[in-house]
Amino acid sequence: MRTVLIVHIPALLDKVVEFLEPIEGKRILDATVGTGGHSEAFLKRLGSGALVALDQDSQALEIARTRLNGPGRQVSFIHSNFSNMKQAAENLGFYKFDGILMDLGVSKLQLTEPDRGFSFNRNEELDMRMDKRQHLTAKGIVNKYKEDSLRGLLQEYGEEPFARRIAAAIIHYRQKKRIETTLELAEIVKKAVPRKAWPKRIQPETRTFQAIRIAVNNELENLKQGLAQAVDLLDTGGKLLVISYHSLEDRIVKRYFKSCSQNSFKILTKKPIAPEKEEIFNNPQSRSAKLRVLERAS
Ligand SMILES: C[S@@+](CC[C@H](N)C(=O)[O-])C[C@H]1O[C@@H](n2cnc3c(N)ncnc32)[C@H](O)[C@@H]1O
Repeated sequence: MRTVLIVHIPALLDKVVEFLEPIEGKRILDATVGTGGHSEAFLKRLGSGALVALDQDSQALEIARTRLNGPGRQVSFIHSNFSNMKQAAENLGFYKFDGILMDLGVSKLQLTEPDRGFSFNRNEELDMRMDKRQHLTAKGIVNKYKEDSLRGLLQEYGEEPFARRIAAAIIHYRQKKRIETTLELAEIVKKAVPRKAWPKRIQPETRTFQAIRIAVNNELENLKQGLAQAVDLLDTGGKLLVISYHSLEDRIVKRYFKSCSQNSFKILTKKPIAPEKEEIFNNPQSRSAKLRVLERAS
């Protein structure tokens, strides 16, 4: 197994451990285990406690299984979308947890492993599915969606100022040929956005790729359902930690936590916690991470 090159560095690890307090006997649900970075740290402290590790990405889950299993450890693995976490946990006999982590977004594995089709840094077939069992792919979206649907998703999920031009360019291109690869899509976007208007800190195609990824994986709707289920699974005194990586996700988390704080819940992070400069230097992928924590008071 090629785990060495693709290990994802867990974001805000110290803060996550501090809030989650994974100590002897606790029951922890890692609802986005990925390749197991956060969970590895939990298991070092959990002793006879239990860890349930869930992810919708079977490739990540296999790596996590190899990394996290070991003598004396109580770990259960679930291949599922977190929008179904309550039923999935209950099927294993877990009805309440002391801590739940949702570390949203993509993992380094998904961005760097060949043939996942998420990245514009390499030419490969457009795909972007976190869960390979699902039918809809990025290729399906760019080749089948109507112009106004494409424009809408670029505006809504990418906050892309040139959504109209990009959608028109995609439609124009596919009149001649289907869009097959990541670099083909990246080129279409680069040509559609005027050079003078290219963003300074990101590549011109970044927002388009983000928007299509969110649409392929239905990320915002799954997040809303996942939050509601996580809250249901929290025992008294239990904490829900959510790390988001863009403003659309963070807005959903912030609003949901606020609505919960009106009954039985306490928000433990008045402002979201962001990584220090040193962490961003060592792990640039963490630069936009924001951690929010909710506690069930009664
Ligand atoms: C940022 S990575 C998590 C990294 C992990 N905390 C670690 O330390 O290795 C995000 C993970 O969440 C998973 N994920 C995203 N949305 C999901 C969903 N709706 N249901 C289940 N897993 C999801 C992705 O497949 C990915 O593996």
